[in-house]
This record gives sequence, structure tokens and C-alpha cells, in this order.
Amino acid sequence: MKKLLLLVPMLLALACTEKSDTPAYLDPSQPLEVRVEDALFRMTLEEKVAMTHAQSKFSSSGVPRLGIPELWHTDGPHGIRPEVLWDDWDQAGWTNDSCTAFPALINLAATWNRDMSALYGRCIGAEARYRKKDILLGPGINMGRTPLNGRTFEYMGEDPYLAGALVVPYVQGVQSNGVAACVKHFAVNNQETRRTATNSIVDDRTLYEIYLPAFKAAVQEGGAWAVMGSYNLYNGQFNCHNKKLLCDILKGEWGFDGVVVSDWGGCRDDDEAVANGLDIEMGTWTNGLRGAASDSYSNYHLARPFLERLRDGRATQEQLDDKVRRILRTIFRTSMASEPHFGAFTSPEHFAAARQIAADGVVLLKNDGVLPLHVPKGGKLLVVGENAYKMMVVGGGSSNLKTKYEVVPLDALHEAFDGKAEVVWERGYVGDTNTVYNKVVTGQNLSESRSAEQLLADAVAAAAQADMVLYMGGLNKSAHQDNESTDREDIVLPYGQDALIEALAAVGKPLVVVNISGSPVAMPWASRVNAIVQGWYGGSESGHALVDVLTGAVNPSGKLPFTMPIALADGPLKTERQYPGVKPEGEQWWQEYYDEGVFIGYRWYSTLKIPVRFAFGHGLSYTTFDWADASVKRKGGSWTVSVTLKNTGDVAGAEVVQLYVSDQEASVARPARELKGFEKVYLKPGESRRVQFTLSLQDLSFFDAAAHAWVAEPGEFQALIGASSDDIKAVLPFRYEK
Ligand code: GLC
Repeated sequence: MKKLLLLVPMLLALACTEKSDTPAYLDPSQPLEVRVEDALFRMTLEEKVAMTHAQSKFSSSGVPRLGIPELWHTDGPHGIRPEVLWDDWDQAGWTNDSCTAFPALINLAATWNRDMSALYGRCIGAEARYRKKDILLGPGINMGRTPLNGRTFEYMGEDPYLAGALVVPYVQGVQSNGVAACVKHFAVNNQETRRTATNSIVDDRTLYEIYLPAFKAAVQEGGAWAVMGSYNLYNGQFNCHNKKLLCDILKGEWGFDGVVVSDWGGCRDDDEAVANGLDIEMGTWTNGLRGAASDSYSNYHLARPFLERLRDGRATQEQLDDKVRRILRTIFRTSMASEPHFGAFTSPEHFAAARQIAADGVVLLKNDGVLPLHVPKGGKLLVVGENAYKMMVVGGGSSNLKTKYEVVPLDALHEAFDGKAEVVWERGYVGDTNTVYNKVVTGQNLSESRSAEQLLADAVAAAAQADMVLYMGGLNKSAHQDNESTDREDIVLPYGQDALIEALAAVGKPLVVVNISGSPVAMPWASRVNAIVQGWYGGSESGHALVDVLTGAVNPSGKLPFTMPIALADGPLKTERQYPGVKPEGEQWWQEYYDEGVFIGYRWYSTLKIPVRFAFGHGLSYTTFDWADASVKRKGGSWTVSVTLKNTGDVAGAEVVQLYVSDQEASVARPARELKGFEKVYLKPGESRRVQFTLSLQDLSFFDAAAHAWVAEPGEFQALIGASSDDIKAVLPFRYEK
């Protein structure tokens, strides 16, 4: 019967061609599935197998005989990677591939703004399309299980609801350009340490409640056309061909009809690659992550070994055709889309979008009134810190970019205070003096001859002569900081910055600290400075975005997408077996046990009532808001939660109204609160708005692994309305009765 059904589209295709001599697969007016079946019908076995693996470092084969183009893949989630050589990671040396660098995804997450995410996706997708790339290898949406993860800056924080809500418009924006978003890295890939040799051992409830939801939203709501398997193993099987993740969940339960692409070098086994849901094998051996013979493409797991298996019966035509259908579907959605797309590259609109998104995500953590910056006319503003000057669009691994320009904070400060106040800079410390990343040359000179002591002394002396001190430090994209393939070793600021900040605070001038990082850092000096800003890696326009907020041109409205702990030890990962994993005698791979279950991030801190430096969802404004008339009302099978927000200050601004749910009578251990809704509300002075949420039974549910189902247990619940996970404005009890 199934075979007969397959004939239908082919017959349709053949029937359609009678009217014209254009083959159906080339006819853009034909339905997608008709085009897919017609092309499949015309392909040879060898052509089909060739499609399932790379032909170069970043392309997989098309069908030259039929005029079906190859698929071009490109990093990354923050901008279009410079062209690389055919079979190498090295840059190709083009001079027309300098892109718009958009903010790091953690910066986007900090906007808590679905519109910013849609704008981001539309712009980066247009850049990919213009560069003739069909699959954008991003966004990354792995959960922030540990603040040490080297790729925290590339992801969207510690909460599945926030990441899921923001990934949807990003995916839709990218794909509106005829470019496939490839959400990554699927799944439970939450560290860089030994990322290709660690087995994540996760119970089903934790998997479904924490590590899958953002991917599910990307696929089912966002309609993602591609998913990238991750390097690690999950429950003993490599994720680029993990039967449970790819076949049972992604393609089975979720009905995913796109392509699964391996991470580069993530495919590890011939038989599993055929049978367990991998559609395109990329990056194996070719000068990538593991050494091997020279022209390895014909040796790929899905190349010669696949052909052999098809010929000797160990692989079936159905297995091959399922892969090829998905690849053809991707080609007909992208380079051969029925309506042509042309994109745009490094346009003023894209740089303006980068600036807007970056500013919308800047988080004002503390302010005693010293911000917005007020330097007396003719006064002196001292800027201290390497990150005021260092270019951050480069580095970090595969998200490294060659951008047309990057406005660093110091540039923007000189512009903003030109003719108003003197801006002087002291380096304060030496961090990463590297200025070349994979042949992307920044042109900066970060060399330094002074000792650490001299640098500190010079900064302190300069502070005594200034009217105000603006510290700009944090992390960078070097190894063991915000960097792919390595994790951080602690959350303490590197390069002696804590001592430097304390010394500056002791001078007694107004002191603003801007932390520029992609992941949480410890702030032991927080009580001794006047203001603290989380600045992020903001892309090409990062300096302008940051200074827009510091000067008040933009009223800050960002909120933390992760918890800023007081110390790493306060977190949920207490043992080696939890992180970074252990290697018991006789085990081939490292084993990592997610013993903390669903209790990651604020779910951990709020349930155990552990104090944190700044909470998930925290962020201040230059205006004030009043919260009133909060209510919860049953409405059929759901609940309406409402609150009235009023801007009671004298400047326009935005607040993010957050809705958390707390199950007061659960039969299982549940977090004290779980984010189930948020809305960013922009209000003029004096303006107010009634904000409403709908809570469904799904929002009250936990995942019952035994029943393999979501369960809402009758009993007492609370809806918590707040400005952050620990700034709750209203606790609204309600009962759920079956
Ligand atoms: C890298 C990364 C992945 C990237 C790919 C191609 O190792 O894990 O995110 O897209 O390889 O560069």
C-alpha cells in the first residue's frame, strides 16, 4: 500500500508534464512534493548516495545532470562566515565576503523580544541568501546547564520557554529568504569539554522538560527546515545518528520533514548513519576534526560504505529515498524555491538592525542614579579596560566573523562626548592580545609593555584625575573563555580584574562597571560600584549600542537570560560525574550524569532559595513602572492571567512582564517556578497597558516518563507575575480540578 501511495505524486508529476515539456521538478508552479517525487524518480542510485554527504568542506552534492544545484552550508548564528577553501577550514581570501556581524545570540536572548528575533532572522537570512548559501548553521539553542559552557554566548540561556519563544521568529525570519535555518546542536550538548567523547545520561523527564522544548518549538512552530546533530552521545549513541533523538522523537513524534545534518565530523558509524536518521554527513575527516586519507569524500560513511550496503541488502532503497526526499525538499525550499529570493548584504538597514537588537538586549543590573552618564561640561570621563577597545566579532570558534566594520565602545564614547567632555582610556589589564583569528585580521595593536602592576597603578592614578570612571572589562573569545571547543574553568573574572575594579572603587569617583561577556561572571565588588551593566558581544555596532544605553539615548530594557550566581559552587553541578563527566574503567567514552534533573539555572536557585548576584529575568530601566490589578480567572479549560503595567517615570521605556507557574501540590519534585509566558511592553511616561496571558493545562504539566506523557495534576497552583524570577509583583493562587 505504502509503495502505491508513493506512486501518486509521480503519476501527478508525469501527468503535469504532458501539458508542457518542463519536467515537474523544474516547474516552480508544481507543488513541493510533486517536484520532490519527480526529481527522485529521475535520479540514479549513485546520484542519490552522492547527495547524502559532503563534496567539500561546506557543500553537499546536487545532481549536475539534472541541473539540481549542490547545497551550500554556512556558519554561523551571528553572521555569514567568510568563504573558506574547498577542502579546508582556512579562509579562501575573498575580498567581498565581509558581512554584517549581528549580536551574539545570548544578546538576542537578553532582549526577551520576539520582534527583535524576527528582525534578526530576516536580516541574517538575507545575508546568507545574497552570499548564495542555502543552509545557515544556526541558531544554537542548547540549554545553559553550566555557566562554564564555552558556547554559552552562542545560545539563548537557561530556560526552555524563553529559548523556544525566541527561536521561532528567528527561524521564520531566516527561512523567509529561502534559506534553511539549521537549529543546533541536537541534543543535550551542554559543554565543550570533550564534546566528541562524552555520553550525556539524562532521564526522560529532564530531556522532555528542559533539553527538547526549544528544539520542538523550532521544528513545530518555527518550521525549521534543518537540524544539526551534536557531537556528543546521548544514552550511549552518537547524536548525529541517534535513533531515539532523530527517528523516534524528531522525525517521529514531532513530524520533522526537513534534513538532519551532522556536525562537522560528528558522524561516526556506517550502519548507524544509514539507519538512524542522518540525512547529510558533513565534515568527516576532510581536514576537519579527525585525520584521514586525502580525498575522503568517497570514503564517507554515507558514500562508498552506503553504496556497498545498498547493493548487498544491508541498506534499503527506502532508507536512501527518505534521505534524498528530505534533501530535495530542502533544495526546492532554498536555491530552487518556487519564488526567487535575492537577499541583501551589509546594507545600512542590517547594521541598523544589529545596533537596535544589541541595545535592546543590554541589561542594566544596578544603578544608584549614576546612569545615564552625566559628565560635567568640559569634564573628564576615564574609560578603563581592554574590552572598551578590543574587537570581539572575531574569535570564538566557528562563529568567528570577518565584518565590514566593528564599532568598539571607545569609538562610540569619543563620538558621543565629542566637544562635551574629554574621554581618556587606560587599558587597566592585558587580556587577549591576539588580533588574527583563522586569518581574519583585526588590524588592532593589542601589544603592551607595562606590567600588570603598572597598568593598575596608571588606571588608579587616572581615576583620581577624572570626574567619572567607566570600567569596560569582562571576558573575550579566547580559549577557556567564551570560545567553542573549550569550557571556562571558573566564573571569576580573569586577568586580575576584580582587584582592579576594587582599586578603582577605592578612589571614590562615580564608577560604572560594564561587563562585556557571553556568559555569567562573579561580581564580588557589586556593592562597591555605583552601576553595573551587562554588555554582551553586540556585533558590528556593539559600541554604538552600548553607548546608546549608557548615555540614555536608549532606555535599557534587557533582562538576564541566565542567572548570575555569586559563586560557581552555588550551582547544581556538584560532582565530577555531573560535570565534566567521568570515565569508569572499561568505558570507551566519558559518562556525564544529569543528576540535577530539571533543576538547572533559576529552577535550582529559586527552589533551594540560594541567593544569587542577579536573577534570571532581572534588568532595570531608567524609568519606573507600577504593577496593579493582577488577576487569574478560569476560562473553560485554561486560565487568563492579567496585570496592568504603568510607566510612572518621566522617560519612555519597556518592561518585560514575566509569568511563572508554581505547582503547590505535585506528586513529583517540581521547581519553585517555571517561566510560562513573557511580554515586552513599551510605554510612554504615564501610559499604562493591561497585559494578558493564557495558561493552558500543558503549562501546568510535568513530563511523566513512565506514561511518556505530559501530566497536569489537579490541586493548588500559583501564577507568579514578576519583573524577574525573583522580583515577583503578584502571587495569584488558583486550583485545577479535573
Ligand atoms: C563546528 C560546530 C558547529 C559548526 C560546524 C561547522 O564544530 O560545532 O556549530 O556549525 O562545526 O563549522
